[in-house]
Amino acid sequence: MSTATENAYLAGNFAPVRDEATATDLPVTGSVPPALAGRYLRNGPDPIVDPDPAMYHWFTGDGMLHAIELRDGEAVSYRNRWVRTDRAAEALGEDPVPGQPDDVFIGGSSVANTHVVAHAGKILALVEVCLPTEVRPDLSTVGRYDFGGKLRSSMTAHPKIDPVTGEMLFFGYDITGPPFLRYHVVDRDGTLTRSEDIDIQGPSMVHDFAITERNVVFFDLPVVFDLELVGKQPFPFEWRPDYGARVGVMPRDGGNTDVKWLDVELCYVYHPLNAYDTEDGRVAVDVVRHQTMFADDRYGPGDALPTLDRWTIDASNGGKVIEERLDDHPQELPRVDERLVGRSYRYGYAPSFSLGDGGGVQFGGLLKHDLHAGTTVERTFGAGQSAGEAVFVPGSLDAGEDEGFVLSLVHDTDRDASDLVILDATDFTGPEVARVHLPQRVPYGFHGWWAADDTLG
Ligand SMILES: [Fe+2]
Repeated sequence: MSTATENAYLAGNFAPVRDEATATDLPVTGSVPPALAGRYLRNGPDPIVDPDPAMYHWFTGDGMLHAIELRDGEAVSYRNRWVRTDRAAEALGEDPVPGQPDDVFIGGSSVANTHVVAHAGKILALVEVCLPTEVRPDLSTVGRYDFGGKLRSSMTAHPKIDPVTGEMLFFGYDITGPPFLRYHVVDRDGTLTRSEDIDIQGPSMVHDFAITERNVVFFDLPVVFDLELVGKQPFPFEWRPDYGARVGVMPRDGGNTDVKWLDVELCYVYHPLNAYDTEDGRVAVDVVRHQTMFADDRYGPGDALPTLDRWTIDASNGGKVIEERLDDHPQELPRVDERLVGRSYRYGYAPSFSLGDGGGVQFGGLLKHDLHAGTTVERTFGAGQSAGEAVFVPGSLDAGEDEGFVLSLVHDTDRDASDLVILDATDFTGPEVARVHLPQRVPYGFHGWWAADDTLG
């Protein structure tokens, strides 16, 4: 566990970088597949001003985006830029960006450090406690984005884009509620068409949700905001087992009164891998499940080792959730082929996850799950090398599931350098397809997105 004087989330490859770099014509070992035409974008915390180690939590650093541009078999460019939230602009001595002022929810002004998603031709840098921040393909900040004034509360960092309808479904949680949760639908052209208030019992931390073809699945789990903790500990949420743990299933076109809430075993879930409607009318949600969260580690998600579990939810006749273990490799940041979000699927990809000797979480290799075969393979990258979240990119327009590439940023401790590694997903433990050498280290972060050229208009 981290201590007040030695904060693991500021050391090693968690330490921030200080330069906003631009580099072109990057050196590559192997060859970049010509099918990859676009940008790999990745977000993560990178505090601009040196924080007090006793009060720094990994989730609170200013958001920094990294972009590696691939095209015509070349690694065209690398850029990294801080997202200009109000806090970041002030720390950098710049004028505030346009848009509604940042809402100040959690122990200071906002950051935008968690995810980056492209939808309807816009790139949004996301956190979960305020509005999105729109950025350009060159990572410069446009300003806060509120869907033409229709969004007046926070947006999750984990919207889901339906692969068939093109809609973007999302929610926001609001620690100043009720309502503590709101559900929103944006059509494929980017117009916010629906907002529904959803009743949950308190200000729990709702990091992500799941969708299926017909339903959405909310989590209401016992990590709860406490105003008394603001300024007293690094993160003002804590493990509160008496809050209980439940999962809510709602038809996608339904509202608050349609949500069926069902109890699950006490746990915390940041991320589902995916979810789908089963043939017999239930909903299966595959989740990375933590036994507790913020009960021990006050500086990051390092209480215990999470596993991949399946919750099969029968919302009829009073309801029932069957919980089963799919894979017991410790893991986090799971991803699926985006073309199968909310649909029956076979494969998933996730970094392995362990707890470091000096406290804090430790990345390592990458896992590939075959949920039909019930197998998981682990790919490692050699001594001192550790991979972050893996994003799948199809190899062609008509490629089947898993027929494509897995992209992940790999840090090499010996060189204190980072590379973008491109794997053939179907040959997961085979030779690397390409390794793009970046001009500076990329600190461990959270989530990324493949923004193909043809999605940015
Ligand atoms: Fe996340």
